[in-house]
Amino acid sequence: MPRIVAPSMLSADFGHLDRDTRMVDRSAAEWVHIDVMDGVFVPNISFGFPVLKAIRKATAKCLDVHLMIVEPERYVERFVEAGADIVTFHLEASADPAHCAELIRRAGAKAGVSIKPATPVGALRDFLPLVDLVLVMSVEPGFGGQSFMPHALDKVRELRALSEELRPGLLIEVDGGISSHNARALYDAGADALVAGNAVFGAADPEAEIVNMLNA
Ligand code: DX5
Ligand code: ZN
Repeated sequence: MPRIVAPSMLSADFGHLDRDTRMVDRSAAEWVHIDVMDGVFVPNISFGFPVLKAIRKATAKCLDVHLMIVEPERYVERFVEAGADIVTFHLEASADPAHCAELIRRAGAKAGVSIKPATPVGALRDFLPLVDLVLVMSVEPGFGGQSFMPHALDKVRELRALSEELRPGLLIEVDGGISSHNARALYDAGADALVAGNAVFGAADPEAEIVNMLNA
């Protein structure tokens, strides 16, 4: 499976969003990860549609939108209209995950579902055939710069095995505390895409860190 890196724009310099998006655009990263937080599902607020649209203008790469919001079904279509290629909502935030995934796909994007560190992989069983991607959180969602929780490695292995049975071709993404130091273990466990915020934007040479992750 080809390896994917998804730099998280949450760690970009918002005073130079265009510059930082263009850096990702010319880098070896295939996806651009966009964290949307509502201050209710998580104790932090990030950004919404206007910022997503600005990022869309600065790159042709796959916009990977991670919604950390309650009642995601109310907004998923608007995120697709604003330029999202993948829309991922939290299993814990949706009263009807099957319906939410269907809305995303009908709007023309790939549908993803994410689980927090305390949510077991088994909770996804019924929904795996209905989604394109699962995002395994390796930190508590809400903030960049936290330490990686190693339990995520077991969850990726379990999910890869379950997907071979129920949803071959499922994309597995992992988010939180990832850098070139732990990327290899995650790819080996079965992850396709790794999100990295601080590791990329905090590096002296962000483009080199992306390459280091891909070659880890
Ligand atoms: C956290 C976000 C992450 C975050 C990752 O809630 O979902 O995408 O930006 O940042 P790092 O890589 O710094 O842990
Ligand atoms: Zn994220």
